[in-house]
Amino acid sequence: MAQEQPLIVVRNVTKVYRMGNLAVHALRGVSFQICAGEMFAIMGPSGSGKSTLMNILGALDVPTEGTYLLEGQDVAKMDANRLADIRNRKKIGFVFQNFNLLPRMSALANVELPLIYAGASRGRERCVAALKMVGLGDRMHHRPNELSGGQQQRVAIARALVNSPSLILADEPTGNLDSAAGEEVMRVFLDLNANHGITIVFVTHEPLFAAHTRRIIRLQDGLIVSDEPKL
Ligand SMILES: Nc1ncnc2c1ncn2[C@@H]1O[C@H](COP(=O)(O)OP(=O)(O)OP(=O)(O)O)[C@@H](O)[C@H]1O
Ligand SMILES: [Mg+2]
Repeated sequence: MAQEQPLIVVRNVTKVYRMGNLAVHALRGVSFQICAGEMFAIMGPSGSGKSTLMNILGALDVPTEGTYLLEGQDVAKMDANRLADIRNRKKIGFVFQNFNLLPRMSALANVELPLIYAGASRGRERCVAALKMVGLGDRMHHRPNELSGGQQQRVAIARALVNSPSLILADEPTGNLDSAAGEEVMRVFLDLNANHGITIVFVTHEPLFAAHTRRIIRLQDGLIVSDEPKL
């Protein structure tokens, strides 16, 4: 049987931030793989390198050393156009802790933004479909301040969905939410993963949310200290 190629291979990745004479070793050599269709959590103390790793996975930043292969292709060797293509049009959707919604625009208009950036026309139906996928079919014309925190984060997830990504990267998506709203967001991720085959990697400090996933990668001081597939 042919071995399926992993979606992502991270090999001996380091990240050093240089600030004048100071070198901050944010990642000290991490290696792991992500298979298509997986959902897992990244945990670890503040400053352990979680966001640094997410930025590299999302091709928003590049490793100092080591290799990052996305579908077998070395991200460091991609040109700017190809990188922009990956971020804007396909493959990877992002969800952030503070939602990053534009306050004066409706949920629907917020979800339409990536399509506008990607130069796609006739995207309205896809945006409506994405909002329905996150359970907000009845809130499309609400502005962010007319929505609960959990609903705002679900708008942000719908915005990440409109370009049909195969991977969603969420950096502390429940960090600004109470536990009920956080659970609401987790249920959406679980549904997208189980029923739409979207690979999901999320950072959390909350063991209850991480417990929804089979695998947890734990970082400490820029190293993976455990990578457990629970059975
Ligand atoms: N742009 C930057 N320039 C310099 N140092 C940075 C930069 N970004 C992060 N760092 C440093 O790298 C280390 C890892 O930061 P990172 O943001 O990845 O941590 P984190 O695990 O996401 O923490 P938190 O849980 O607080 O979000 C920290 O020591 C941080 O101060
Ligand atoms: Mg962080």
